[in-house]
Amino acid sequence: MRERILEILRDGSFVSGEAIAEELGISRTAVWKHIHSLKDLGYEIESIRNRGYRLVSSPDIPIAEEITRELGTEIIGSEIEFFPTIDSTNISGKEKARSRVSEGSVIVSEVQTRGRGRKQRTWSSPKGGLWFSIVLYPEIPPERGMLVTMMASISVAEAVEEVAGIRPVIKWPNDLLVKGKKLCGILTEIDAEIDRIDSSVIGIGINVNNDIEPELMQTATSLKIETGTKISRVDLLRSILVRMDVNYRSLKDKEHDMIRSRWMDRSNIRGRKIRHTGERGINIGKVIDIDGSGCLIIETEVGRERIVSGDVEYLDS
Ligand code: BTN
Repeated sequence: MRERILEILRDGSFVSGEAIAEELGISRTAVWKHIHSLKDLGYEIESIRNRGYRLVSSPDIPIAEEITRELGTEIIGSEIEFFPTIDSTNISGKEKARSRVSEGSVIVSEVQTRGRGRKQRTWSSPKGGLWFSIVLYPEIPPERGMLVTMMASISVAEAVEEVAGIRPVIKWPNDLLVKGKKLCGILTEIDAEIDRIDSSVIGIGINVNNDIEPELMQTATSLKIETGTKISRVDLLRSILVRMDVNYRSLKDKEHDMIRSRWMDRSNIRGRKIRHTGERGINIGKVIDIDGSGCLIIETEVGRERIVSGDVEYLDS
């Protein structure tokens, strides 16, 4: 109902409570209550006796009312749930995946109290960033799971370029960097059978307008730092969802090579000398390629290695 009231008020002119109530088939008291809950969310709505209500400004908070407006996607953003605070959007996403929410459901939060990074690391998630997860049912074999993360990194990189005018570089497996500092991290968690991924929760954390903790300043950056201005999180999230909708449909249509080559275009990893730290130890080598499953192929002193997971550090500049 709040979405519909906003639709009526979007053009910025006064509309009486009576007219809104009549159009929506609800009481004037119900209209008043909805207007108040919109004000609580941060909408500035002027109310003048005998004239009605007027929308003065909308908040830059990634709530469903803002994101779903003319979104026009087929899968991604099928449902959007916003929390002022949550433990972790990935935890919530995994619960929702278990209860088979609609594919493309998005969980977004202003603050996370237990934001999670890869390898059980914590992820700082203060106010002003973009912390969200998307539930997907990709129906691909688990060994191709990396493609889902690649598809997500391409979508975020494209959206950042469109909205903030910055071209981040993708660092394998899933970081987006600007001038060598981390702008965005992606944590994909899957629930799989032996031959098929049942569900995949893609958790995306982007430093947008949030402050970066002093101890992370050497390694992390934000869009606000890089552009010198505040970036609309509503515009950014909308753009990510729109681009991911296209890219995810390509993945579903098995256009894996296309995903791989677009990922390559936005990464600078081919030919780089790297140190890889994984479960089986450390490997040093030169990156030859990324294979069809998103694994790194490196040439080491003892021959070629295929790298499935782990951390990569560039040894050249
Ligand atoms: C990493 O680079 O280590 C991945 C970081 C992923 C952070 C995001 S924020 C939204 C989602 N919820 C979480 O708890 N983590 C991911």
